Amino acid sequence: MISATEADWSREKPLPGQYEPGKKLLAALRRYQRLRAESTPFGKLLRPFVVLQHRFWSAVSGADIPLTTKIGGGLLIPHPNGIVIHPDAEIGPNCLIFQQVTIGASPKPGLPVIEGHVDIGAGAKILGPIHIGAHARVGANAVVLHSVPANATAVGIPAVVK
Ligand SMILES: CC(C)(COP(=O)(O)OP(=O)(O)OC[C@H]1O[C@@H](n2cnc3c(N)ncnc32)[C@H](O)[C@@H]1OP(=O)(O)O)[C@@H](O)C(=O)NCCC(=O)NCCS
Repeated sequence: MISATEADWSREKPLPGQYEPGKKLLAALRRYQRLRAESTPFGKLLRPFVVLQHRFWSAVSGADIPLTTKIGGGLLIPHPNGIVIHPDAEIGPNCLIFQQVTIGASPKPGLPVIEGHVDIGAGAKILGPIHIGAHARVGANAVVLHSVPANATAVGIPAVVK
């Protein structure tokens, strides 16, 4: 079973000779966050270049994943087009996010917290101050407005646990 706590960084490694803009985008985000955490003078000089890399791959991939978003390692975004993630949402390790997914705000204050190894189907929207438990699955095109327990599958509009 894929871990919900230990990041499997090999999931983010580019495959030789493959066109994988999602992995390039994530690599820029990881690089930026590493430089920020180390906070060395050389790192500070490099940061603007990494920001440019992130902007380039954001434009190519069509995903809006801000540089400061808290995302555990081992994220898979095989088709990054249309993914939008609020910078204050939290995503655990080894998650899978398909195309056109939004993780963001609702009229209620607060943002989603998604635990490890959650698979989120194409077009799903996860909105507001909710919690998605580890190993949960969110169906394609679901609109999730309430918390989902660990290991559960949420589908539909509004999403219900099946
Ligand atoms: C949610 C999901 C993971 C469930 O898969 P599963 O465990 O094989 O579930 P089943 O197909 O047996 O369906 C279970 C029930 O949920 C319903 N269901 C499944 N997916 C649904 C969806 N996306 N929206 C609405 N209902 C859905 C089924 O109709 C079924 O309902 P029933 O019990 O009333 O008959 C899967 O259907 C899904 O949506 N995966 C996303 C895949 C994706 O986005 N791929 C993109 C590739 S590019």
